[in-house]
Amino acid sequence: MNSLATLADQLRRNPALQELEEGTLRALAARLEAVAFAPGEVICREGEVGDRMFLIAAGEVSVLKTGERGEFVEITVLRAGDLAGELSLIGPTVRSATLRARGEAQLWVLSHEACHRLLAEHPPLARALLAHLGRHLRRETSTVARLLAQDADRRFKVVCFDTKPYIEAVFRERNHEHFSLRFIEARLTLETVSLAAGANGVCAFVNDTLDASVLEELSELGVGIVALRCVGYDNVDLAACARHGLAVTRVPTYSPHAVAEHAVALMLTLNRRTHRAHNRVREGNFSLSGLVGFDLYQKTAGIIGTGQIGQCTLRILAGFGCRLLAYDLYPNPALTAETGVQFVPLPDLLARADIVSVHAPLTPQSRHLINAAAIQQMKPGVMLINTSRGALIDTAALLEGLKSGRIGYAGLDVYEGERPYFFEDHSDRPLADDLLARLTTFNNVLITGHQAFLTREALRNIADTTLANLREFEAGRRGAALTHRVPLPSTPHP
Ligand code: NAI
Repeated sequence: MNSLATLADQLRRNPALQELEEGTLRALAARLEAVAFAPGEVICREGEVGDRMFLIAAGEVSVLKTGERGEFVEITVLRAGDLAGELSLIGPTVRSATLRARGEAQLWVLSHEACHRLLAEHPPLARALLAHLGRHLRRETSTVARLLAQDADRRFKVVCFDTKPYIEAVFRERNHEHFSLRFIEARLTLETVSLAAGANGVCAFVNDTLDASVLEELSELGVGIVALRCVGYDNVDLAACARHGLAVTRVPTYSPHAVAEHAVALMLTLNRRTHRAHNRVREGNFSLSGLVGFDLYQKTAGIIGTGQIGQCTLRILAGFGCRLLAYDLYPNPALTAETGVQFVPLPDLLARADIVSVHAPLTPQSRHLINAAAIQQMKPGVMLINTSRGALIDTAALLEGLKSGRIGYAGLDVYEGERPYFFEDHSDRPLADDLLARLTTFNNVLITGHQAFLTREALRNIADTTLANLREFEAGRRGAALTHRVPLPSTPHP
């Protein structure tokens, strides 16, 4: 026989009860009655009136609904810690399903009367049960939505968040009607996550919110896979994905050329000031004052991160006759043999480069890699290019560098506070982000709104890889069998 303290401890493991105080848990434990059920024994019957709530202590319990021909259909299986019959605590209610022990099962039973006394004496218990009922109701509503949707269309369903017309067009073209695709303009957030009801998978992008609460909701809605249509996955809580058994895939490469060529476009525009020249000529101003550039030939370019995009950038710059320096956690001798690039420690690169281009991913280690100290080490008048992730650069430090002239040019396709702005038209409102607003005032700063990837070839590759990732999941592949999976941390044992 369990002591009250041990039972209270067991009760605390139930998510619905875990925030209750010891006193309340013990009072609840004292009113629970232990009942054992034999394999196959019916605990309560659908259609009968009942006034007891059940908490499964051990074993498994089938939840059965009567089908059209009177047969039992198993809706779900309850296991230790699960609650059933909670509605009967409000008063005697007609049972909506039959509960039957699958094998030996131990249940804790709480009668309606005992519960009423408890609720009067322990208001936090009432609050916890109401919150639990709310969650339960939401889950059930989603299940109904999912079943209705599945009934109408038996294809694997994917809801694509944060989509634009150019994304929808290319996904529809490459899908060949295989998946049922739904395109939603809104970003994935806690407010919009319910739009994934009925979907088997979601397709998400860089600015979608994939934190623990959104992922929990996705899993409750029955979504099994988050198919990212981007390279980076720094916006995904991977531990939460592991906890909820959600697979995560990405598009590891779609066109490194697209991003590298954009980085070089920023360099050329900033250097030769074609953006300013274009504006002048349109105004009938053909003056060349202030448009003096420099030869790229024999200038030193420093590439931070020599993965796929960094390598493409190096090859293009080698074509201009630049001297090449690189910094990476893993120097690549084959790249040195091919392009002549010299791998150096970061401080050396910063001190020697005329152009610094950042192509490392955003990780806890690389966050604000370019900060005030790093900027101090750079050559006066240096050109800084970032087409990777905004938070690699400390924007406040960059502004100081621009104001002091230490930084002569900045080309940014990404910005650490880009999420509320990029990919959307904000031209009819004031720009409330002071750092971004200040950056736009410099004529030696060129900002593009995360468009480095945006070429026809890249869009086609993004759609093809994302759809292939989804097809693998649909075919039952999981874990390492998913070609482009994002590795998840192993789940801690409860
Ligand atoms: P990759 O994974 O092929 O290469 C990344 C390289 O960075 C690797 O060689 C790695 O060793 C190195 N690295 C990692 N941490 C580092 C650190 N702390 N310091 C120095 N080097 C480090 O990635 P890929 O395909 O070249 O993409 C790079 C980044 O570009 C992505 O992580 C993504 O954030 C960004 N990107 C931006 C796009 C845009 O439209 N602006 C589009 C696609 C990617």
